[in-house]
Amino acid sequence: MSEPTIESILQEKRLFPPTPEFSQNAQIQSLEDYQQLYDKAKADPEKFWADLAETQLHWFQKWDTVLDWKPPFAKWFDGGKMNISYNCLDRHLTTWRRNKAALIWEGEPGDSRTFTYAQLHREVCQFANVLKQLGVKKGDVVGIYMPMIPEAAIAMLACARIGAPHSVVFGGFSAEALRDRLIDGEAKLVITADGGWRKDAIVPLKAQVDKALSNNSVPSVTNVLVVKRTQQEIQMEPGRDHWWHDLQQGISADCPAEPMDSEDMLFILYTSGSTGKPKGVVHTTAGYNLYTHMTLQWAFDLKDTDVYWCTADVGWITGHSYIVYGPLSNGATTLMYEGAPRASNPGAFWDVIEKHGVNIFYTAPTAIRAFIKMGEQHPKTRNLSSLRLLGTVGEPINPEAWMWYHRVIGGEKCPIVDTWWQTETAGFMITPLPGAIPTKPGSATLPFPGIIADIVDLEGNTVPDNEGGYLVVRHPWPGMMRTVYGDPDRFRRTYWEHIPPQDGKYVYFAGDGARKDEDGYFWVMGRVDDVINVAGHRLGTMEIESALVSHPAVAEAAVVGKPDEMKGEEVFAFVTLEGDHTPSEELVKELKKHVVQEIGAIARPGEIRFTDALPKTRSGKIMRRLLRNLAAGQEVAGDTSTLEDMGVLDKLREGV
Ligand code: WT7
Repeated sequence: MSEPTIESILQEKRLFPPTPEFSQNAQIQSLEDYQQLYDKAKADPEKFWADLAETQLHWFQKWDTVLDWKPPFAKWFDGGKMNISYNCLDRHLTTWRRNKAALIWEGEPGDSRTFTYAQLHREVCQFANVLKQLGVKKGDVVGIYMPMIPEAAIAMLACARIGAPHSVVFGGFSAEALRDRLIDGEAKLVITADGGWRKDAIVPLKAQVDKALSNNSVPSVTNVLVVKRTQQEIQMEPGRDHWWHDLQQGISADCPAEPMDSEDMLFILYTSGSTGKPKGVVHTTAGYNLYTHMTLQWAFDLKDTDVYWCTADVGWITGHSYIVYGPLSNGATTLMYEGAPRASNPGAFWDVIEKHGVNIFYTAPTAIRAFIKMGEQHPKTRNLSSLRLLGTVGEPINPEAWMWYHRVIGGEKCPIVDTWWQTETAGFMITPLPGAIPTKPGSATLPFPGIIADIVDLEGNTVPDNEGGYLVVRHPWPGMMRTVYGDPDRFRRTYWEHIPPQDGKYVYFAGDGARKDEDGYFWVMGRVDDVINVAGHRLGTMEIESALVSHPAVAEAAVVGKPDEMKGEEVFAFVTLEGDHTPSEELVKELKKHVVQEIGAIARPGEIRFTDALPKTRSGKIMRRLLRNLAAGQEVAGDTSTLEDMGVLDKLREGV
């Protein structure tokens, strides 16, 4: 599958306007309406967001200041008091939505459960009381390491309800990765399950938690709550470990939502950067609530009758913003699925759509490519006529995959909403408003109202149309991350000083390369830092290198992304060995296993190439560009004159 290049982008001239039926029923119905909204927001962003905050959310107390901007630190709606769990649950109970399905859940082995708003509210209140009973207080961080089961959403909402920031760790991460995150957040309690289903196998989540906490390595954690999901044998440590169902039994369902300050921390979510350990991205209460609420409502043209399905895992920001908080705040019906695309059940996704009459389907290009490979016959033999809108996120979508999605899944009638955003942004930043903005395959189209996006050079100057540059945002927005947990300096350096501020004006650096075409459409090309995107998962090359080097046989490692047809990119590692260790197939296997143990299966190298030396500049910097060329099997392009030892290149081509 081809990578987006400037040539392929310039050749992509197809334009797909929304159908008249779609536009007539949409909230924002024409390009003119979008333009008006956009201009209004741009002229006075604070007023724009304040008006929406007033009409769309419930407040216990109104704010004093809309935006307090001391670059790069922002406060939104300071002085206000609210609770996102109240906005997601309580406020719907006094309306007809009380008995509407809030959460529909489909389990991997085929079991399913539905919660109305009233039922979900009850579960959340009870579980919030369980947390309180175990001594969790406002401000205490709670770790969540769970499979895709309703209890994951219930746990998050219960934390939010009592003001305990959650730190969800994706269930595919290793015990080591979990331990690092629990330590960094000083978590007081961990919520997990005996296991989770993943592609016909059981992930031993509780055993991983035991390992993460072993030798008292996370002293802050005093309790572990365990959901029974897979029924396999696990160890329960007396005093520390408790079954969810035991504590949920008979506990009061009366738990008023704690009035939170707008800027109280809602959660920490870790994401990879180009250097060092993963960053704890901090999101706060009110701005996050407003931003995820509005972006979902407009970009997916959400209707009260919709069944909406986002296929992400709650361990990622997509799951936080667009399975749990955004949909529930809007009073929508959100569907949660435990499964992943898998060869043993190639029709599973389409069965879910048919069974529940899904109207909006949101997934990732890597999944779409897997569906393409499994064959058209699977979706073709299911009734997908309920679908009215399709979304995509995670990486640039190849125009061929876009066209397949449009034709085979969307029946050529559903708009495709390609949403560009990041863990750091909380919600969609560049996205079509589907009734208004004609789409182009491979482009996330235009910025959301209130988002001032631009393409600049390294000095921060806007570059001409169709010339590549760095994607930046020029004005704060309510969903922006507030800081890196425990490291405000890193926040400043990474995101706000990469492009030097001009005349005191700070711009947010996203880390992506992009172009803007003559219609103002954005075409995102991919990361410009040492972050790679494997199946929509973001991995820092440094993290994987550190994992490799922590193995006794490894002296030095350099990791790059290698283009991959299914996953977008694959981990490719060049490794030099310590002393008398010699390359072997066994060692390759062992090193792969080692990376899985250190980080998780998502980081498993696809290929490891042993070499005597890595290509370095005279100042000792690894020349990754060369390694990327080599990994891709391409000729080494560009300037190699700074290479210290030219002989290294030939050896690298062959490997040892
Ligand atoms: C990075 C953010 C946002 C939730 C999923 C990933 C890439 C994301 C798109 C898109 C092109 C995209 C970018 C971005 N990305 N969506 N629609 N088109 N690229 O969140 O793990 O924080 O990763 O994913 O490179 O910077 P994340």
